[in-house]
Amino acid sequence: MAALMDQLEETVRFIQEQGALRPEIGIVLGSGLGNLVAELAIEKEISYQDLPHFPVSTVEGHSGKLIFGKLGNKQVVAMSGRFHYYEGYSASEVAYPIRVMKLLGVHTLLLSNAAGGMNAAFAVGDLMIIRDQISLFTVNPLIGKNEAGLGPRFPDMSEPYNKATILKAVAIADKLGIPVHQGVYAGVTGPTFETRAEYKLLHLAGADAVGMSTVQEVIVARHMDMQVFAISVITDLGIREEENIITHQEVLEAAAAAEPKLTAIFRELVQAI
Ligand code: HPA
Repeated sequence: MAALMDQLEETVRFIQEQGALRPEIGIVLGSGLGNLVAELAIEKEISYQDLPHFPVSTVEGHSGKLIFGKLGNKQVVAMSGRFHYYEGYSASEVAYPIRVMKLLGVHTLLLSNAAGGMNAAFAVGDLMIIRDQISLFTVNPLIGKNEAGLGPRFPDMSEPYNKATILKAVAIADKLGIPVHQGVYAGVTGPTFETRAEYKLLHLAGADAVGMSTVQEVIVARHMDMQVFAISVITDLGIREEENIITHQEVLEAAAAAEPKLTAIFRELVQAI
């Protein structure tokens, strides 16, 4: 198999041959959170299956294409559908599109995800700006030969989520009258939702929310020195006394219900970056 850098260059060349696509902001939308795409003045859509070296998305609620266009006055690329470790991709495959984005010129990455809440102050439908992350329960996508052209062998992770962007998002949410929490997101592999004991452990470890995406993408983005911002939509609560059966359907429904708040913040944030 070709070296990573050769694969990336081939993917990027394929995209650039489709036209002058010069995105500066990358957007990755989580399960049931794809509506922001409807606001793009779309210039080009490319199905993942047509992209050389791209994994192909399989999970329900993910349509699987790269969408290039303008959001307000900003040139963006949005992933409609992302790759999850639980689908069977390697950690580095999960994060492959983020590397492509960087090589296309993207300097800032905005992500959303559906997450289980563990902070007692959280309710279903709340938004949480991710301030920090715990990725020790997942496989690090940088394991293996370091590609020095992308970033350092031992990247700093003291500010995974850009503080200045968080401040801008908080101000925007405040202006729009949308309450937002800030907290720590723990990444897990899934596909099982957590047991009661696991939610408790993650909470004790310092996490406010837990989900099956994001952390590997963020590691790869920080490796390449991209600015990162992410919001979780709390779709279920992991820690409560009563019966606590969590279904994928419930997660999708809660995400869809909270989606307009998320879209409103992202829409303005893109202009403020
Ligand atoms: N756990 C893990 N991933 C999730 C959850 C959860 O409770 N909710 C949505 N994604």
